[in-house]
Amino acid sequence: MKKRTSSDLKVDLGRLKLKNPVMTASGTFGYGKEYSEFFDLNRLGALVIKGISLKPMKGNPVPRICETPSGMLNAIGLQNNGLKGFMKEQLPFLKTVKTKVIVNILGNSVDDYVELAQQMEGAGVDAVELNVSCPNVKKGGIAFGTEPAAFEELIRAVRKKVDLPLITKLSPNVSDIKQFARIAEDSGSDIISLINTITGMSINVKTRQPRLANITGGLSGPAIRPVAVRMVWECYKTVSIPIIGMGGILSSDDALEFILAGASAVAVGTGNFLNPTTTTTIIDGIKDYMAQTGIDSMSALTGALKCPKRP
Ligand SMILES: Cc1cc2nc3c(=O)[nH]c(=O)nc-3n(C[C@H](O)[C@H](O)[C@H](O)COP(=O)(O)O)c2cc1C
Repeated sequence: MKKRTSSDLKVDLGRLKLKNPVMTASGTFGYGKEYSEFFDLNRLGALVIKGISLKPMKGNPVPRICETPSGMLNAIGLQNNGLKGFMKEQLPFLKTVKTKVIVNILGNSVDDYVELAQQMEGAGVDAVELNVSCPNVKKGGIAFGTEPAAFEELIRAVRKKVDLPLITKLSPNVSDIKQFARIAEDSGSDIISLINTITGMSINVKTRQPRLANITGGLSGPAIRPVAVRMVWECYKTVSIPIIGMGGILSSDDALEFILAGASAVAVGTGNFLNPTTTTTIIDGIKDYMAQTGIDSMSALTGALKCPKRP
């Protein structure tokens, strides 16, 4: 077996260069520090921080998570410390970590996102990820990520004001994900990430009550993986900007499914709750796969799906 170095795993997401393709998914890894007792965070390709809003958010009432077949529903409600709290309490630690730090941002108006992105740029983070699955107050609460005009306006406004690598995180709760991938690319996104959670609901038939106080929530975990892989594949055929794939990744084979479908990098979400070292096991597994199959660069794997020819 050929001996390989860690440089084999390097990926270039345009201007955002990673030491390996494995990152954490926003909202499932806290502010990073919480996981530092389990493994060396410097091993990660990138650390993606939970969604940050301008003002602190308390989140939804409990119960706000429940288990479902091969997955979980959450309605955390984007609880976070707010911009000031993040800058003061979390950023100093993140500056000590020797990997890329990507901050997921959210707002209820275009101005909220622009302000947050500018502040993050000023603070020296490596990239921002737009969580577009938030209600747009001006449009009666319809999520930015499900309404093409608002989605485009948001990305263009942020792009105009910041030079940072800009990642747009697509919502799967749309009928044609390709349309949103195309708009993201045309409006100046450097990268797209997908998928966010799929809206779902679960009912306790004994009490006849919904299992979440919020009634509906976001479905994540292995249950959504086939949908996510399909969406990554559709986007890969549609746009030329790099793709970060996620949705139910628990193992290196799961991650490789996304990469073969067209992702340049992957993010692990719910998998961190099952085992806090899931990401490092995946990094090692991808390295082994490359050694065993004689592939020496990640770019040779992205989109390398072999589709059977139709008769
Ligand atoms: C508890 C929880 C909190 C999340 N918070 C955020 C968030 O703040 N911003 C965001 O863009 N996505 C958030 N997500 C979505 C994940 O980043 C990811 O897109 C989704 O869970 C699919 O990946 P997975 O199946 O590996 O968890 C959250 C997911 C979970 C389970």
